[in-house]
Amino acid sequence: MRIGVLTGGGDCPGLNAVLRAIVRRADSDLGHEVVGFRHGWRGVIDAEVVPLDRTAVRGILPRGGTVLGSSRTNPFNIDGGVDRVLATLASESIDAVIAIGGEDTLGVAHRLGEFGVHAVGVPKTIDNDLSATEVTFGFDTAVQTAVDAIDRLHTTAESHDRVMVVEVMGRHAGWIALHAGIAGGANAILIPERPFDVAQLCASLEARHSRGENASIVVVAEGATPQEGTMTLTSGEIDAFGHVRLGGVGQRLSEEIRERTGYDTRVTILGHLLRGGTPSAFDRVLASRFGVEAANAAHDGDFGTMVALQSDNIVRVPLEAGVGELKLVDAAKYELAQVFMG
Ligand code: F6P
Repeated sequence: MRIGVLTGGGDCPGLNAVLRAIVRRADSDLGHEVVGFRHGWRGVIDAEVVPLDRTAVRGILPRGGTVLGSSRTNPFNIDGGVDRVLATLASESIDAVIAIGGEDTLGVAHRLGEFGVHAVGVPKTIDNDLSATEVTFGFDTAVQTAVDAIDRLHTTAESHDRVMVVEVMGRHAGWIALHAGIAGGANAILIPERPFDVAQLCASLEARHSRGENASIVVVAEGATPQEGTMTLTSGEIDAFGHVRLGGVGQRLSEEIRERTGYDTRVTILGHLLRGGTPSAFDRVLASRFGVEAANAAHDGDFGTMVALQSDNIVRVPLEAGVGELKLVDAAKYELAQVFMG
């Protein structure tokens, strides 16, 4: 069997660990040939194929990013895109595609099933917002990176009696903000799932400061929005999957807090720092487990599936279960965080 592998969407610590695991299992153990497509679905459209053998994946386990490169290319949005995907798969004699990505990349893999493409998905995103898997690799590393930053911001905030606004990634789901906020001892956590009331936030900061606690940490997910009519936000460009490029809520929020409370307020935007660098041990193990099981699924001809973590077991679920609906922060999880806010 000839297996084509691609990494799509935003990169994420652990992608290389998945690639290595796929090759070690599919090539070394099961005797299949593995090739890589460069830059996600773009490499399939443009027939950019590279060999992916044991030598190619040597030493990449701890490396961040993806040796294959990534892009947010959507073949369904490009004239003739799907035909070119099918042509490449035929000319390269690809029997199975293993797509490593988030909702968009895996959504394409799912839709291509209707065109006879044999796909297996591996869930990837630092945002941890894919359904059907309890966690995606990359999330643990991103949270730890955010917590390291918050720990440092606490000490400088205390030295200067400042409010520190920390903006983290999280377009639709606030998992990074929630976990980093809990682990980092934040005094407020703002997530996309719960539009915030800026007046209420400022009142809670004032209550804190009136108790003599003159430094505060506010963690805000980039996709968090104010309740209607309470604060304005500007929006950015739209990508190939229709997502707005975010960023800016932290800056606006810090200005608003400064104006409303008079407190010395600063903002730190962690942004792509959370996506870069070496994966945590947890993410390396999870990525390795996912990669091995994706190779097994391709070997078994179990297409249209996505590997997932459920109750600490690696299972296969229908691809559509992973991409159908985003996994959002529920009320109970946020209530736990609220115990520590204020
Ligand atoms: O991959 C998910 C993500 O990291 C989101 O958290 C973020 O909104 C987005 O990617 C940023 O994408 P880009 O790197 O294309 O600006």
